[in-house]
Amino acid sequence: MPVLEPLSFECISHGEEQTRRLGARLGSLLPAHTVISLFGPLGAGKTQLARGIGAGWGALQSLRSPTFTLIQEHRRAKDDCLLYHIDLYRIEDEVALQTLGLEEILEDEHAVCIIEWAERASVLIPQDAIRVKLEITNESKRRLTFSTQATMTWQVLLAFRKSAFGV
Ligand SMILES: Nc1ncnc2c1ncn2[C@@H]1O[C@H](COP(=O)(O)OP(=O)(O)OP(=O)(O)O)[C@@H](O)[C@H]1O
Ligand SMILES: [Mg+2]
Repeated sequence: MPVLEPLSFECISHGEEQTRRLGARLGSLLPAHTVISLFGPLGAGKTQLARGIGAGWGALQSLRSPTFTLIQEHRRAKDDCLLYHIDLYRIEDEVALQTLGLEEILEDEHAVCIIEWAERASVLIPQDAIRVKLEITNESKRRLTFSTQATMTWQVLLAFRKSAFGV
């Protein structure tokens, strides 16, 4: 698991279950007001990772691939916090992006936001977001690169790395 640059590391997932388990570990460590932006092509595993994150965070219902709703809201039992699962695949331009109300959601200090196809809203993604790039290496293998530009968020990623990989 090489450390690529100061605030990034990568790992390999060997199957969708492993991707979900990684997500669950990360989800259990997330402070409120965390944005997780997911990058990667169709079928890379963004939704699998998001499902794990939701489960680890404590979402009462399982996260699913959005059909018509681009933004799905989830709650958990232990507090009033919300998790927003956002899929921007169908967002084609700035105008469509503006009608979504993403800016308000990103300002919610109690919320966690997971954004699939985050490159479609790159101007809105905060600097302290967790970024996960997913690459398809073969049918069942994915390379996941976790990074951030903020030292506070890096502490969250370090705790996640320790919990998942012991280092
Ligand atoms: N290691 C892996 N991690 C995650 N998914 C995997 C892995 N290996 C195979 N898969 C398969 O890849 C697919 C990933 O689907 P998923 O919906 O998570 O992708 P996505 O990145 O959200 O795609 P989309 O852009 O269409 O939303 C699933 O069919 C899953 O079974
Ligand atoms: Mg998806």
